[in-house]
Amino acid sequence: MVAPIDALTPAVQSALVAAFGEEVRGADPVLRPSQFADVQVNAAMALAKKLGRKPRDVAQAIVDHLDAGELVSAAEVAGPGFVNITFADGWLAEQALAAQTDPRLGVATQQRQVIPIDYSAPNVAKEMHVGHLRTTIIGDALARTLEHLGHHVIRQNHVGDWGTPFGMLVEHLLEVGEDSDEARVVQTDPNAFYQAARQKFDSSEDFATRARARVVKLQAGDPETLRLWGALYDLSKTYFNKVYSTLGVTLTDADLAGESTYNDDLAGICKDLEAKGIATHDEGALVVFLPGFTGREDKPVPLFIRKSDGGYGYGTTDVATVKHRVEDLHADRILYVIGVTQSLHLQMVYETARRAGYLPERVEVEHVKIGSVLGEDRKILKTRSGAPLRLMHLLDEAVQHARAYIDGARPELPEDERAEIARMVGIGAVKYADLSVSHDSDYVFDLDRMLALTGNTGPYLQYATARIRSIFRTAGIDPEQQDAPIVLTEPGERELALTLLDFGGVVAQVGQLSEPHRLCTYLFELAQAFSSFYEQCPVLKADDEQTRQSRLTLCALTLRTLVQGLDLLGVETPERM
Ligand code: ARG
Repeated sequence: MVAPIDALTPAVQSALVAAFGEEVRGADPVLRPSQFADVQVNAAMALAKKLGRKPRDVAQAIVDHLDAGELVSAAEVAGPGFVNITFADGWLAEQALAAQTDPRLGVATQQRQVIPIDYSAPNVAKEMHVGHLRTTIIGDALARTLEHLGHHVIRQNHVGDWGTPFGMLVEHLLEVGEDSDEARVVQTDPNAFYQAARQKFDSSEDFATRARARVVKLQAGDPETLRLWGALYDLSKTYFNKVYSTLGVTLTDADLAGESTYNDDLAGICKDLEAKGIATHDEGALVVFLPGFTGREDKPVPLFIRKSDGGYGYGTTDVATVKHRVEDLHADRILYVIGVTQSLHLQMVYETARRAGYLPERVEVEHVKIGSVLGEDRKILKTRSGAPLRLMHLLDEAVQHARAYIDGARPELPEDERAEIARMVGIGAVKYADLSVSHDSDYVFDLDRMLALTGNTGPYLQYATARIRSIFRTAGIDPEQQDAPIVLTEPGERELALTLLDFGGVVAQVGQLSEPHRLCTYLFELAQAFSSFYEQCPVLKADDEQTRQSRLTLCALTLRTLVQGLDLLGVETPERM
């Protein structure tokens, strides 16, 4: 099954060729939803020029030659040269029924690609911040969507687990003892641990000296130091996993592929880049200069490959990620779901990898740019006291807000059900807010707005599903089994059916463009279309049994589409709300 607009496109193309001959083959008529009909064809303007004819004549020729079989009930010229097309009710109804009986709801399976996705990437012994929250949520939605489209997704959690701070962190761990409360705090409040280590480093010359010596030992692979580093890593894993399970994110320990996993590759990469003449020595460091990458006063910006102290930079590790994902994981397409501020860094990494032959033309590599999460003052989100936000607190707060709402709205529900609804709604609200704005724009973190039951929010969509579920509970029917024929007569029914049929196209687009917000926009429109349908068209109290059954099928398809769509975004849907 195809979306109505996509189904119509070939018919319009054939009409153009039939009317004007081979000359216009390949002309791409723009079809888009219209206020006056279901779609408007916008081909005439551009073609009129090319053919030296009046736009309205061209439009008329399309109408005359349009052979769309059962698909179209009316086509007419409108305005300066548009063609307004109305889909046939019977065709729409058939397609909607086909969607309802299709387990994939009209989402086609695509030619399988191997797609590593780099997302989340928090740092060991550090608090995850709202920036990590957003890459985690968006990355996970993309992973779910691409998997659903039939691809082999390989999650790559590029955890920050290496580098100079680990000297100080390991030394602090050694001092407090691995089994102490001070160490265990990493599992719940890693910042407390980090700050304590930092404090010692800044105030004690002796500690700082030991911390520096510790870095050298770590890099030299000293077994005891590595063991302590591993202990710290394990404590952090507990913390990450707590956040992931709270969020309902699909990342597991098997997806951890932190910076340290590339340690053994870095020396070889440096050598290779040098041998290939890509990297050069500059004031003791090994760097890559790339044409076109310049900073202030046109000064070339280097990508640091090896620092003058022999340490490897963030850039080297990222070149290693590209190489690994292409050569070992056999990637066809690679996504880096990372902050927008790292755009230049990534472009230099890609370009370096291309030149070195690590990234062949056939592999597509893409930066899914993540914008910032801001406070109400439009600055990076902080607590009122100015301290960085604790992510788990933020999530707890969202769930508490949702709990207060549900306690007020549904006091009759059992306590544990209310707790479960509050969890789904609170977490769903935060996730949906992250997903519903385009990933590269900044947005203001505002719990009240996220949790609102109106507007393009998670709770609004969850509520829409709960409302439909209650219709089926009342009727005593399983929505999965509802497959009575659909008859479209009322405008509300038609509009709903048309919207439902766009689902497959939208999901494909989200996968292609890496833009989950398009699915949010779609689901919001679907919920609105359902709302108007439900206002105009009684379902359980419909005039006759055939209409009642038909409307129940539309309700069932709407429910399944909303639930499936939200699931692709990683948002759960409660039975009641
Ligand atoms: N750990 C880094 C941070 O917290 C993000 C790493 C992103 N991924 C990457 N391949 N560079 O800022």
